[in-house]
Amino acid sequence: MSNNEVKKAEGKLGVLVVGLGAVSSTFMTGVLMARKGLAKPVGSMTQYDKIRVGKGADKKYLKYNEIVPIADLNDIVFGAWDVYPANAYESAINAEVLKEKDIEPVKEELIAIKPMKAAFDHNYAKRLTGDNVKTVKDRWDMTEQIREDIRKFKKETGVDRVVVLWAASTEVYVPVDEKVHGSLAALEAAMKADDKEHVAPSMCYAYAALAEGCPFIMGAPNTTVDIPAMWELAEKTKMPIAGKDFKTGQTLVKSGFAPIIGTRCLGLNGWFSTNILGNRDGLVLDEPANFRTKEVSKLSTLESILVPEEQPDLYGHGNDEDTQYYHKVRINYYPPRNDNKEGWDNIDIFGWMGYPMQIKINFLCRDSILAAPLCLDLVLLSDLAARAGRYGTQRFLSFFLKSPMHDYTKGEVPVNHLFQQYTMLKNAIREMGGYEADEEID
Ligand SMILES: NC(=O)c1ccc[n+]([C@@H]2O[C@H](COP(=O)([O-])OP(=O)(O)OC[C@H]3O[C@@H](n4cnc5c(N)ncnc54)[C@H](O)[C@@H]3O)[C@@H](O)[C@H]2O)c1
Repeated sequence: MSNNEVKKAEGKLGVLVVGLGAVSSTFMTGVLMARKGLAKPVGSMTQYDKIRVGKGADKKYLKYNEIVPIADLNDIVFGAWDVYPANAYESAINAEVLKEKDIEPVKEELIAIKPMKAAFDHNYAKRLTGDNVKTVKDRWDMTEQIREDIRKFKKETGVDRVVVLWAASTEVYVPVDEKVHGSLAALEAAMKADDKEHVAPSMCYAYAALAEGCPFIMGAPNTTVDIPAMWELAEKTKMPIAGKDFKTGQTLVKSGFAPIIGTRCLGLNGWFSTNILGNRDGLVLDEPANFRTKEVSKLSTLESILVPEEQPDLYGHGNDEDTQYYHKVRINYYPPRNDNKEGWDNIDIFGWMGYPMQIKINFLCRDSILAAPLCLDLVLLSDLAARAGRYGTQRFLSFFLKSPMHDYTKGEVPVNHLFQQYTMLKNAIREMGGYEADEEID
């Protein structure tokens, strides 16, 4: 595709965020501070990364916006929904991620971001008690009301395009049910029949976004857009979708570290990952049904990088009736740490003649500080994809996600290996920029 086929990033870009908690308020504050020149958007690929285009004597290293038209930070207009009525300023203060000195300079702009009433169902996040919630007749009505919100936001702000990003709490686990999630018609029927068990509120947001011509990104591990019904809707509306679960702390380390074991042909007996965190996300994840959603997402990372069937000698023992290594992930709610998560990884590897060794990784991270640049990149790149005419699952965004979407109905496997994901990202940018997508995935 030549550069000319990608529409320019003209006009304003609306960014509607579902959930106005720690991640969203940190993201918004950072963008507003960066555009005043008061902070640097560290960690954002779209703002910093340079990739090679062309080959041999013709090769050049360019920033993304020198290759493809990416929306400018100055053109972003934020909006949000939340269960609690706190505006973005109050939310940033409450979250205690950023110091007041890093929030005050953009106080007025943050105060102006007032959350719209949430499409919420208490059964999907039992620990939340806010009352800034829509009154709805059924799931279909819930969707219609969100659509109306999007239209109103567009009208009031005059934005040209909108991207909807889910950075709200993790919902309880909704297993894919072919009868309801297998086709768009079935999903619509379930919404109209108010099937609360199979239609999560997040599905109403995703449906509304796509139906209103907005790309949708799932930043939590919810299975929302990981179902054929949503793929069908994305095809129909020609909109990009991406998900799921921001790849921030422990899983980022895992997907970057596992290749060391893989490339050196070392063996793996077990990988135990545990976390303590004390923010509202941690509180919601303390509920077993909500943690299940996260666990499924976190567990998927390793299995596609170190594949037991491919190397039974190296990864075929240690757990699960000796068919593969033991892989365990735990999250513990521990309020004193707030947003400063501590992750421990204990990796039991073995080497020459099977002799065991251990690796310990202790990552003292800041969850929202790691998630904010991902929000920015996912939003800007989804907007780019829409302008480039790309729709459906955006596999090139796997780089940013813990449990990347893939068409499991066609036997497609997710790419979790960080460096393979980076290659996919670079190739997509090259291609949208009219260059050859010339890097092979090894
Ligand atoms: N920070 C990270 O490193 C990271 C990584 C991966 C995924 N995530 C996910 O990102 C999400 C946000 O994390 P956070 O730390 O900001 O959490 P948070 O609890 O601070 O914020 C989430 C907000 O979403 C709101 N909410 C819940 N359900 C809603 C609904 N149906 N509609 C509108 N608002 C709703 C809550 O009231 C809350 O204010 C979580 O799902 C988390 O699992 C975060």
